[in-house]
Amino acid sequence: MSSHAVIRDDDYVIDQNWAGYTTDEHAVWDFLYRRQRDILADRADEALLAGHEALNLNRGGIPDFRVINAELKARTGFEVVAVPGLVPDEVFFTHLAKRRFPAGQFIRGRRQLDYLQEPDIFHDVFGHVPLLTNPMFADYLEAYGKGGLRAMQFGKLKNLAALYWYTVEFGLIETPKGLRIYGAGISSSKDESIFALDDPSPNRLRFNLARVMRTEYRIDDHQQTYFVIRSYKDLIHATVDQDFAPLYMRLADGVTYKPDTILPSDDVITQGTQAYALAKIAGTPG
Ligand code: PHE
Ligand code: FE
Repeated sequence: MSSHAVIRDDDYVIDQNWAGYTTDEHAVWDFLYRRQRDILADRADEALLAGHEALNLNRGGIPDFRVINAELKARTGFEVVAVPGLVPDEVFFTHLAKRRFPAGQFIRGRRQLDYLQEPDIFHDVFGHVPLLTNPMFADYLEAYGKGGLRAMQFGKLKNLAALYWYTVEFGLIETPKGLRIYGAGISSSKDESIFALDDPSPNRLRFNLARVMRTEYRIDDHQQTYFVIRSYKDLIHATVDQDFAPLYMRLADGVTYKPDTILPSDDVITQGTQAYALAKIAGTPG
């Protein structure tokens, strides 16, 4: 009998088991949904708000993926799939490359309404999925997935992860009404939704690809710097339409910037009160 190892092609996808959520879990969703909708009404970018409407995430309780996927697939061909929690990078990238967004199946408990480290269904579905109804943003995430697999080969995953962090998670966009939120890490967080736009302490800098990819980030606190795009079209032009290979070569020098740093070359929209301006240091004698 021939024996060979079973090659597992594990995509980590599980059944959402929508019928298995408790009444209290549905109530947690409803509470978080209403609270964020009020906060975001004049803080979120209109593409994000349009996504909330399109998916009708307020039917009562945790959304059933079978229901929202019908709408999502029709709009952009994306679908959301349930996973137990964080998945390995390669698995994550492969899903995105195939227009599948992996979302945590579980919902946070009542003691963690305001913050939890692991992405749960509220962060993933309320935060990420609405913008996937937008054709440009859907293209961006698919390309990001493909780009992630490529970055692994270049050994530049950290740099590419910073791009995800400062756009998909914590991105701001300039609109005629002022700065608006599109990043899911902001839009799914009560405190950061207010902090990102209103607080005087963080820097708000114009998005610049190479700059962003050298920037470190904090996962345990609000951001000290937000990067601001002019439009999704601009973001796509700067990323999807560029070959990152030459950039990866330049990044090989290993230079990175602390999250609070402002460089002389930065296009500063608002300088945070906590900013660390490198220009001043560079001018110091000795
Ligand atoms: N164009 C990038 C590359 O050549 C891939 C990419 C696209 C990365 C979109 C991020 C976002 O690797
Ligand atoms: Fe996220």
